[in-house]
Amino acid sequence: MNKMTFKDNDILIFRDSNEISDYIIEKWAETAEREIGRKNEFTVALSGGSTPVHVYRNLASQTSLPWEKTHVFMVDERFVPYDSDGNNFRMINESLLLHVGIPARNVHPIITSNNSARDCAANYENDIISFFKLSPGAFPNIDLVLLGIGQDGHTASLFPGTASLSERSHLAVAVTPLKESQKDRITITFPVINNASNVMFLATGESKAGILRKIIKMKNRNLPAAMVKPLNGTAVFLVDADAGSLLD
Ligand code: 6PG
Repeated sequence: MNKMTFKDNDILIFRDSNEISDYIIEKWAETAEREIGRKNEFTVALSGGSTPVHVYRNLASQTSLPWEKTHVFMVDERFVPYDSDGNNFRMINESLLLHVGIPARNVHPIITSNNSARDCAANYENDIISFFKLSPGAFPNIDLVLLGIGQDGHTASLFPGTASLSERSHLAVAVTPLKESQKDRITITFPVINNASNVMFLATGESKAGILRKIIKMKNRNLPAAMVKPLNGTAVFLVDADAGSLLD
């Protein structure tokens, strides 16, 4: 693994997805042990998409991790039913959660069976407020947030050109991506992401090289992924050699 620091971003370049997955499992175990020692629970928010599936499958074999004290939240969800192929929670459930014996009460999906994405976002926000016992205007401090990066620079479901980018009070919002082909989404907001302790971006493959260069080298602040700046935490980019190929 090669470590690069570019301005205020740490980028770790790994040989392949296996190396990235090993690194994430190591950091997950480390952070879980520390946080459970500190507050008897470990909170993590997971992204959908295709890139993290490999990591989730490898995590699923880590049955010695403290799943009974781990709480899993969702970074975002597509406004589609659970049994649809595009449902992020279904993917995370089938590739990870159903294999590790985590108590059902520790799993916090974004329920999509409500009438609108807006109602789903409101319900999810209430779940986060009650779990973290938040007072009005406060944001949760999630221990570890795993984010992806889209080729348009979106992260979570915070898409370029959408109102979700300037949301400063809600914890979760509904998003209508500009691309008509894309379903409505529900996503956590920047104040939640930027209040997390550890943020890890995961990007692999040549198709992500161009956008990574824009985010990291050209610091294009209009790109949602470049707007992730944890206040009291860290954000690190975990990329493979192909995705990092334009970061010389
Ligand atoms: C989603 C994600 C989204 C994803 C990026 C990257 O619901 O799709 O949460 O933010 O991380 O689109 O997706 P890939 O990993 O499939 O490239």
